[in-house]
Amino acid sequence: KQTVGLVGWRGMVGSVLMQRMREESDFDHIDPVFFSTSQTGQAGPDIGKDIPVLQDANDIESLKKMDIIITCQGGDYTKAVYPQLREAGWNGYWIDAASSLRMEKDAIIVLDPVNQHVIKQGLKDGVKTYVGGNCTVSLMLLALGGLFEKGHIEWMSSMTYQAASGGGARHMRELLTQFGLLNAEVASELADPASAILDIDRKVAEKMRSGTLPTDQFGVPLAGSLIPYIDSQLDNGQSREEWKAQAECNKILGINGKPIPVDGLCVRIGAMRCHSQAYTIKLNKDIPVADIEGLLAEHNQWVNVVPNDKQATMEQLTPTVTTGTLNIPVGRIRKLNMGPEYISAFSVGDQLLWGAAEPLRRMLRILIE
Ligand code: HSE
Repeated sequence: KQTVGLVGWRGMVGSVLMQRMREESDFDHIDPVFFSTSQTGQAGPDIGKDIPVLQDANDIESLKKMDIIITCQGGDYTKAVYPQLREAGWNGYWIDAASSLRMEKDAIIVLDPVNQHVIKQGLKDGVKTYVGGNCTVSLMLLALGGLFEKGHIEWMSSMTYQAASGGGARHMRELLTQFGLLNAEVASELADPASAILDIDRKVAEKMRSGTLPTDQFGVPLAGSLIPYIDSQLDNGQSREEWKAQAECNKILGINGKPIPVDGLCVRIGAMRCHSQAYTIKLNKDIPVADIEGLLAEHNQWVNVVPNDKQATMEQLTPTVTTGTLNIPVGRIRKLNMGPEYISAFSVGDQLLWGAAEPLRRMLRILIE
């Protein structure tokens, strides 16, 4: 059995990873060693078998003993530790949730239902660094994999509706606290059916603008509002999140020549952990909607094509039904007024599962099989 070091397993993405690894009995197939940045020497988590005490996540000598390291500790950790480890001659497999190494020439972005061929080639070529993709990109490719695989997408625009969890655990708490404070502001009026809605609305708006809502994480109120900017500002007008769409999509698909143009605006909304996206897709030919649905449905076992029907959409194509599951519903597929080669689509996916943890544990399984 291979010795696998786990770093950052206690954080939000790490906890989701641990949960999935338990569900899939991954620990039966490896000798896990848990690392910690703060609790070296203490007992590790209960995974149903004996494991060594927690090792120091900053100790290169301990890390060097691992065949595989899987980290959800974050970009700062990767930037600090990864170069030292490689310089020290470590030649093991590094599986990472952070974005720091994603675009490195010697790193592969893992999303095996979509780019198994790229991963297999990388393993043959001796690539040792495998990084999870940006959540919106991974969720988009799982939803639309069938069209990408057949080369039918000439270009695409994705307008996103991204959940609080993409910012982190504290962002989720802040969103809920904001919701609660807004509700509390008008609780008595809400309890009275005769109260005037415009008075309620005014009080809520005043509260939102009062500067008294907690905004340490998001910077401005998100509850009852939205934020059409995610991640840092680039010089070309895009946000970094928007830049990732084309860069990572093409890298995941292994496209080295002319990239498929992918662009759009990324927007934070008050959902908990499901990212949704509205697509405008330019196909390279006129394909009947039923055929498009067939291609998408056949691509992988998690995608679920939702008929473009109001009731089905409301029941199957929302963060509410998707959250906490590996399902990737995609619907609202129809031809647009722009012409027969233009279609719309809408997808939802859990940002912590397929958007973060799941591709990592699947890469681990590929390595140990
Ligand atoms: N950057 C994403 C977001 C999450 O803020 O929603 C990480 O991929």
